[in-house]
Amino acid sequence: MTKIEKIVLSYSGGLDTSIILKWLQETYGCEVVTFTADLGQGEELEPARAKAEMSGVKDIRIVDLREEFVRDFVFPMLRANALYEGQYLLGSSIARPLIAKHLVGIAREVDADAVAHGATGKGNDQIRFELAVNALDPSIRVIAPWRQWTIRSRMQLLEYAEKHRILVPSDKRGEAPFSIDANLLHTSTEGKILENPAEVAPDHVYQRTVDPIDAPDAPEIITIGFERGDPISVNGKAVTPAALLTKLNGLGGRHGVGRLDLVENRFIGMKSRGIYETPGGTILLAAHRGIESITLDRAAAHLKDEIMPRYAELIYNGFWFAPEREMLQALIDHSQAFVSGEVTLRLYKGSASVISRASPCSLYSADLVTFEESAIAFDHHDAEGFIRLNGLRLRSLAARNGR
Ligand code: ARG
Repeated sequence: MTKIEKIVLSYSGGLDTSIILKWLQETYGCEVVTFTADLGQGEELEPARAKAEMSGVKDIRIVDLREEFVRDFVFPMLRANALYEGQYLLGSSIARPLIAKHLVGIAREVDADAVAHGATGKGNDQIRFELAVNALDPSIRVIAPWRQWTIRSRMQLLEYAEKHRILVPSDKRGEAPFSIDANLLHTSTEGKILENPAEVAPDHVYQRTVDPIDAPDAPEIITIGFERGDPISVNGKAVTPAALLTKLNGLGGRHGVGRLDLVENRFIGMKSRGIYETPGGTILLAAHRGIESITLDRAAAHLKDEIMPRYAELIYNGFWFAPEREMLQALIDHSQAFVSGEVTLRLYKGSASVISRASPCSLYSADLVTFEESAIAFDHHDAEGFIRLNGLRLRSLAARNGR
């Protein structure tokens, strides 16, 4: 193997990546450039700069990716109503390809031969980072310290930190933190007591939503505007993608919307239990389904629903930059041409319910469906033949089977 001269590290400034920074500098004896993405994780990013500086990093990149994240990754995914295993809104999965894209971009700019990340050998995130790097630039090598070093547990990690005088962050209660991943779409929490799925998650794991029991007794009514499948306004006010999701996170969080306690199947092969909070995303999923319900043709809607699990699994497994995901995306995007209009929802004690929807492109016809007399020609006798022919084979089967 050729010697590595320069590495770009995906760096959060947290415990794991602080240790990785030190380890890379010692192990490879080369320059390490740090890249910290602002995805709206709600953490201050300047401490990350200070820590990197203290570790002797010369080239420190901190980039605000919030708009790109929501516009080019979250919204395209929401057009599909994507849910993994029926429930997970893919908040961590969808952030990884974006981080990888920028890691590769910086690596090319500074002429680095490798990128590094802090994902462990047991998780999905390593796969997502590395498949994305493979797809974008196969000449760039990937270093995954968690798979290379001799540290095998969080305990050993803490010992290494102590030995190298690296600051160990603790949670508000002075305990070692959970494994948390946060961005504008969600907060995910794993590890510690949550590793036993038979244990009820303690209240303090929740970060951005109130317990629905403690949510306001008065419901809140909100209206979301859509254009070609993407949300563009809240309560009549046009906002940018990141501002829109930020706003809905605040509203949803206050009403306890979007909590999920899930045992999921990781791509790498094991089951894991996590707590997810996706307030804005949960509102947007309900709203998007609401606007689609009046603007999409039945067959188009059903086809979307058929491919959705496949599309969600591709994102979960890290195949964002693969042709099959892009092909499905083209199909989904094509379906959204008339998905425009307004949806009104009620937020109340953990729920986000659609209570009305309207669109200039609506396919809904009150005149057609009405129980009252209607101007539209609909011959009730046609329904008789429709049922008779659909029932033809069922009558044949019943006759043969002697029912
Ligand atoms: N299990 C979720 C997923 O695979 C969340 C992973 C969160 N990552 C983390 N570093 N805690 O998408």
